Amino acid sequence: MSSTQKKTLLQVENLSIGFSQYVKGTQKRVIWPINDMHVDIAEGEIVAVVGASGSGKSLLAHALLGILPGNAICLGSIMYRGEELTDKRKGQLRGREISFIPQSVNYLDPLMRVGKQVQIGLNKKSAKAQQERLFAQHGLNNSDGRLFPHELSGGMLRRVLFATSVREGVKLVIADEPTPGIHPEALAEILKQLKQFADDGAGVMLITHDIMSALEIADRVAVIKDGTTVEISEAEAFEGNGERLKTEYTQRLWRALPQHDFDTEVTGKAVVAPCL
Ligand SMILES: Nc1ncnc2c1ncn2[C@@H]1O[C@H](COP(=O)(O)OP(=O)(O)OP(=O)(O)O)[C@@H](O)[C@H]1O
Ligand SMILES: [Mg+2]
Repeated sequence: MSSTQKKTLLQVENLSIGFSQYVKGTQKRVIWPINDMHVDIAEGEIVAVVGASGSGKSLLAHALLGILPGNAICLGSIMYRGEELTDKRKGQLRGREISFIPQSVNYLDPLMRVGKQVQIGLNKKSAKAQQERLFAQHGLNNSDGRLFPHELSGGMLRRVLFATSVREGVKLVIADEPTPGIHPEALAEILKQLKQFADDGAGVMLITHDIMSALEIADRVAVIKDGTTVEISEAEAFEGNGERLKTEYTQRLWRALPQHDFDTEVTGKAVVAPCL
């Protein structure tokens, strides 16, 4: 589906994120890891956000959710459903209309049983039944609900995190690396669920290092480099030798994937392949 056919859900323009830091004791300076970034997502659309480690993908997610650290400066425009996404609105929508699958399992409360954590935000009367259904869907046993995070494996924790994002009325899902360390079967299940969110009309931002998996479900791919958007292309452009991709950076990225035999030899001249 093309974004032009659907209503824009999220529009991020000129996003810059800075951190004020102390240097030499009392002197302050601001560093800007995100500079002039843009991305947009339509209703029912899956946009993969890919980029090297440290390129600013998680900061983008945290800015949308309003969970940046206190010393962060956030500039630019974030429009959600036609209105500015203010800090107040982010707080109101987070965990409800806007759901988040964080990159780190440390986002889970170490002192709360995981079943209870999945019940947060669900209708009180049906929360337990819904949680058990979500556990079953994600290959977790009923009895796992009584465990604390430290008693679960990394893969199981990622599935718990995923279950916390499934809420009725979700309109935007931000998934920050939802698949690392997950075996292929569970990976397929997670991709299927993200697709289901989109089929139900939600917009999905899928942040990942795994372009090939993302392409199985993404409509478009935004490529991020050093805190800025290099290119946003239709997923179909990621095929063959990448001739339909707009920038040399993305073409190199595409051609350097293992599926393409780490091809670092493009048009006769050696290129350095950017790594994700
Ligand atoms: N609180 C902070 N203070 C200062 N710099 C920060 C802070 N948080 C992140 N950064 C910097 O911002 C840049 C982007 O970080 P971010 O976590 O968004 O990267 P990422 O693309 O998610 O990387 P990864 O793929 O490894 O998860 C990094 O250079 C990081 O060091
Ligand atoms: Mg990250």
